[in-house]
Amino acid sequence: MKRVMSSAASSSSARARPPAAVSTGVGSAEQPATSLRSAEPPAVIGDIAAKWTISASLDQVEVPKNMQTHERPMPLPFTINAWIMGKFFERRQYLGHGKSKVCYRLTDKLVLKLRDQRDPEPDLFRQLQATGVYTKVHASAQCQFGHETWHAWVVERAKPLDQILKDYPAASNVCIPGAVRAMLIAHLYNHILSDNALFNFGMVDGNVVIIDAGSRYGQPQLSKLRFTKKVMTPFWIKAQTLIHPATLKCYRQEWHVAGDDMATTLQTLETRWQELRSERRHLSVLNSLDERNSTTAKCPHVTSVIDSLDTDALDWLTQTYLWGEVAEYGPSSDGYTRRQDSNYTAAHKLEQLISETHGQRVHHCNNPAEDILDEAELKVILDAWKNDYEQWMRPEILNKTWSMTAQQWHQTLRRAFRSHLFQMVGSYEMAIFFVVAPFNNENLLVFRHCDNLEESKAYVRKKNANTRQA
Ligand SMILES: Nc1ncnc2c1ncn2[C@@H]1O[C@H](COP(=O)(O)OP(=O)(O)O)[C@@H](O)[C@H]1O
Ligand SMILES: [Mg+2]
Repeated sequence: MKRVMSSAASSSSARARPPAAVSTGVGSAEQPATSLRSAEPPAVIGDIAAKWTISASLDQVEVPKNMQTHERPMPLPFTINAWIMGKFFERRQYLGHGKSKVCYRLTDKLVLKLRDQRDPEPDLFRQLQATGVYTKVHASAQCQFGHETWHAWVVERAKPLDQILKDYPAASNVCIPGAVRAMLIAHLYNHILSDNALFNFGMVDGNVVIIDAGSRYGQPQLSKLRFTKKVMTPFWIKAQTLIHPATLKCYRQEWHVAGDDMATTLQTLETRWQELRSERRHLSVLNSLDERNSTTAKCPHVTSVIDSLDTDALDWLTQTYLWGEVAEYGPSSDGYTRRQDSNYTAAHKLEQLISETHGQRVHHCNNPAEDILDEAELKVILDAWKNDYEQWMRPEILNKTWSMTAQQWHQTLRRAFRSHLFQMVGSYEMAIFFVVAPFNNENLLVFRHCDNLEESKAYVRKKNANTRQA
């Protein structure tokens, strides 16, 4: 049976029956294991002998694309049954996935992470556990999924910072110092996050921890100058997709005055962090965040592309367009774009640009990730998109058009379509360009450096023709 998740679907608390083939762990066919949904995390730390297996649940709850955390097609089912740490977990639901791992919510406090090859993360997290800036690893083992062997580990569940900030922008005053402190402590132990976007940090019990180790450990220590360039500059610019540049400027300033060297800077950050944790008003915010179940759409396209974007170009894109006036425009409850009371993040705006232009390209490209469209193909797409006005034109505008002459209607339709595209990212030309060419780093640079839309289109088309000839 297939269902589609409406909001954050939770795992079942139904009593579970272990598969006949698996020998008894905690439960048996006669004595079903009780779901651990509301139980405390087990006290056992370390690997245990029982074999770990996962299988697709018959009751699949599919997660819509906009609620997934990454664009990569899910290599495993959304809903699984699992034998982990000698216990049976029934109908456990997808929590998130990235470029390499897949995560399920095992209980309220535990997450199962899986990768199809060995991953240094569980060992690294265990080694550096005492630092307090990594999620705690409860167990790890190989895990069978049919004939496939996966590597699996169970960690404490965190609330990813990108999800916190989308629901609660004011929490940046805790998320940013917490993430910076975590990176400084990690660096002290020669670990530098390969991707330090905020979705790779999380909050657990009012503490900011690293949830994705990445691949850069055993790194040499850096001076503050080098650390600022190599680690902090990309961090600020990626954070700018979630936090307004004016707010971020204050945190950047704090970073610069925190100390001349890494040791002093860490000391300043540590003192600041302890102050924040002891201020009751911040603590109550952090605790209430723990209970929140985010139903805000994720930004899978942005997550997938962000690490490959040139930092200057991303900085330019967010500052010039995404946080502008258009940040006020987003989908209302009926799905139509309107001016809203609260701002949409730059990540939401960019997600809309990529997903809508990609959605149009998909029907006209053999390979939407690469194809460059010619002018005739572009016209076909734009005409069809414009004429599908019931999908995008606000009903209050549409209702006013019934008494119009044919000429008035065509003018209104053209104008409304232009503003619909403009409201996506603050540039009609950019929306058109990313119908012609896929959104990626190279094409973003082309659009940035060409003088106008015509020049940008001509550039990518010429390059495409040259590549085909070669
Ligand atoms: N400990 C955790 N608690 C809650 N969610 C998590 C946890 N670890 C990972 N996730 C979710 O799963 C996603 C993918 O996990 P991650 O470790 O970042 O994998 P990848 O290395 O493939 O990016 C994260 O972006 C996050 O949304
Ligand atoms: Mg990740």
